[in-house]
Amino acid sequence: MMREIFRRKSLQELTAEAERNEHGLKRHLTAWNLVLLGVGCIVGAGIFVITGTAAALYAGPALVISFLLSAVACAFAGLCYAEFASMIPISGSAYTYSYATMGEFVAWIIGWDLILEYMFGAATVAVGWSGYFDSFLQDLGVTLPLAIRSNPIGFDGHHFFWTGSLINLPAVGIVLLLTTLLVTGIRESTRVNNLIVAVKVLVILLFIGFGVSYVDTSNWQPFIPENTGSWGHFGWSGILTGAGVIFFAYIGFDAISTTSQEAINPRRDMPIGILVSLAVCTVLYIAVSLVLTGIVPYTELNVSAPIAVAIDRTNQALAWLAPVIKIGALAGLTSVILVLILGQSRIFFTMASDGLLWKPFAKVHRRYKTPHVTTLAAGGFCALIAGLLPIGLLGEMVSIGTLLAFVIVCAGILVLRKKEPHADRGFRTPWVPFVPIMGILVCLVEMAALPLDTWIRLLGWMAMGFGIYFLYGIKHSKVQRAKQRIQ
Ligand code: ALA
Repeated sequence: MMREIFRRKSLQELTAEAERNEHGLKRHLTAWNLVLLGVGCIVGAGIFVITGTAAALYAGPALVISFLLSAVACAFAGLCYAEFASMIPISGSAYTYSYATMGEFVAWIIGWDLILEYMFGAATVAVGWSGYFDSFLQDLGVTLPLAIRSNPIGFDGHHFFWTGSLINLPAVGIVLLLTTLLVTGIRESTRVNNLIVAVKVLVILLFIGFGVSYVDTSNWQPFIPENTGSWGHFGWSGILTGAGVIFFAYIGFDAISTTSQEAINPRRDMPIGILVSLAVCTVLYIAVSLVLTGIVPYTELNVSAPIAVAIDRTNQALAWLAPVIKIGALAGLTSVILVLILGQSRIFFTMASDGLLWKPFAKVHRRYKTPHVTTLAAGGFCALIAGLLPIGLLGEMVSIGTLLAFVIVCAGILVLRKKEPHADRGFRTPWVPFVPIMGILVCLVEMAALPLDTWIRLLGWMAMGFGIYFLYGIKHSKVQRAKQRIQ
């Protein structure tokens, strides 16, 4: 049994699978598309919603340092992702990488965990989208009834309760709309994505460019506000907590690797896509947080639309920019949801192709050439939880799931260098073992800082996953069947 569940898929099998392209996915994504896909997925609720709270409650103007710290953690993981993605150009991302290095059971754990990251991630951002949408409608004089624009299930930190609402309809609507788009074709989807990314990057650049002249440097004093006496509230511990909170803002670069099978030249372009998009976002985030905390005293930033608040502080000089920012934020959040649903459907698809999940999930649409069954399933689940649950609960689940995935990917590089030292790599993670070990340590520290409840929910999710694996996956796994035939 132990030997069976740790069976690996060899690199040769994976490469042959990619070359045969038996799944019928089309290869047409360029390096440029991948960078845009990355930025599309990374810049979202993190910068448009969470930045303000993180500055106001934890780090003050030193949020810039929090952003840098989290960027370094992501860079360690990103460098490891890049080596894997350049070597194993299959759409399963970290799931496939662990299949090749640590065997089927670890692969299942990571695949199941990635479903958590992407599905809950898309739902979190959809709920954020719904908030911006309501505020935009209100600017136009339209107010939706509360019962159809908020979550019916609430959570007070310990217990679930009914809020009296019926459904968060805008959140459900945007998820279903994007799911339909994804079913009709990835080429069409990336075109829409490119347009959206252009809009949101432009909006952020406008904010930085126009906002910088309204910065009052006295708002940056003290740059690191004194700790209040409790851990995590300002001072250096606040910078650390801030880093954990805005970690959410960087999530998404890993989703690029799920489209490996649709990239024209994955060996060269995957690392470019991952590392360039991460670098671009880091620069944008640091600039935005400097301008933001320079315009508004950090104590006043605990709001849901911090960038809009900063615009208001410019004494109407930039009033014209406020609606533009809201539209940009809506566009930005839309592309994050799009790429996360895309990522989730590709993971489901790859797991089903391997026999670990129900076979119909591995179907590709005859006309659109997209994995329509898995996309519809991913979108459907996501719409359901976005329509019912509150944003805070969803967001915490995303962070812990993602950090666990990063830990396993970094560990995978260490294993891969031992087991396959001479395999052809388009990109080599530099300074191994320093980079992967640092990646593991930093992510573990960030996981340890998350609330106990989040850990319990992660274990619950994993227990459900183990049930499915031992009742279904292990019996239908293609790798297991092939090995049994050989024996
Ligand atoms: N990084 C993504 C965001 O900020 C998940 O919305």
